[in-house]
Amino acid sequence: LSIKLSICVGSNDTVKWEKGVTYAEGQNLARLLMEAPANHITPTAFANTIEEKLAPHGDRVSVVKRSKAWMEEQQMGAFLSVTRGSDEPPVFLELHYNGLPGGNQPPLLLVGKGVTFDSGGISLKPSASMDAMRADMGGAATVCASIVTAAALKLPVNIIGLTPLCENMPSGKATKPGDVVTAKNGKTIQVDNTDAEGRLILADALCYGHVFNPRAIVNVATLTGAMDVALGSAATGVFTNSDWLWEKLQKASVVTGDRVWRMPLFEHYTRQVTDSQLADLNNIGKYSRSGGACTAAAFLKEFVTSTHWAHLDIAGVMSNKDEVPYLRKGMSGRPTRTLVEFAAQLGHNS
Ligand code: BES
Ligand code: MG
Ligand code: ZN
Repeated sequence: LSIKLSICVGSNDTVKWEKGVTYAEGQNLARLLMEAPANHITPTAFANTIEEKLAPHGDRVSVVKRSKAWMEEQQMGAFLSVTRGSDEPPVFLELHYNGLPGGNQPPLLLVGKGVTFDSGGISLKPSASMDAMRADMGGAATVCASIVTAAALKLPVNIIGLTPLCENMPSGKATKPGDVVTAKNGKTIQVDNTDAEGRLILADALCYGHVFNPRAIVNVATLTGAMDVALGSAATGVFTNSDWLWEKLQKASVVTGDRVWRMPLFEHYTRQVTDSQLADLNNIGKYSRSGGACTAAAFLKEFVTSTHWAHLDIAGVMSNKDEVPYLRKGMSGRPTRTLVEFAAQLGHNS
């Protein structure tokens, strides 16, 4: 390590080097989880892996694995509707990292989409490239890897991580197009396309997250193919109601090089998801293909009351071919380092 250091930077700043190695290890954990086959990384296996990774930091971290019975008690009808078609039990993973013991500073809340395989459900996806949907837990992977990294770095900040974990599968029990479900906040949703499942599981996770009175909420999700159409792998799309939060995320991304780019949350898109025949909301936009990443964000906004919220759509940066030369081909683990840097800067300023 020290030989490499002198060749690469020509200095003896081992502290910064070690910090870089820890950030990279965080991204590698997310890559490993995303690349792994869906029959290996099931919701249960995902939760157990994260529990093991956090075990050495037990004094500052607690891990709770919530079962289906808990989800029912919580009235998470939107999340449960996605899990129905699968025989694999869903898990709602809740992580608490207490980097400021003693104080009761409000936490940063990170929420990650954890669909360990997205077949599309009854609105089945085409076969070509369906294997890539083993990485549809990339939001959960990057959120959990960031918390593991924050714990390793002992960042002086409180973080809560929430990841609804499940598969999206077709079966005789699966949710059907046109079904109506009720989310935790009482809003009804007409599920016109079972492949728009990420927003359903995040809706309930976002509602639940507000009980912690967070200083900011950041959710991360491989949410829409439309995000990939919009920006490709150049940057993560950020939809936020907070200029303060945008500045923090943008600043962090300039440090890491794993970029973010701001996207709109216009009322224009909200109108396209609140016009539903049978319910308060429809889970797809009225003009389904147009502005798909923006209508998905507008849908999530219906489940947020916090004044500092950001939704990161990472579908475009999910995998790497050869666009980013320092990343190998395959699932990318982006933007783990930007999330860690963001948390580090929040800690630094508090
Ligand atoms: N997980 C997908 C989005 C995705 C696609 C991520 C490709 C990464 C690469 C998501 O659940 C999905 O299927 N979205 C649909 C929404 C549509 C039905 C409104 C999409 O993007 O096609
Ligand atoms: Mg889908
Ligand atoms: Zn999905």
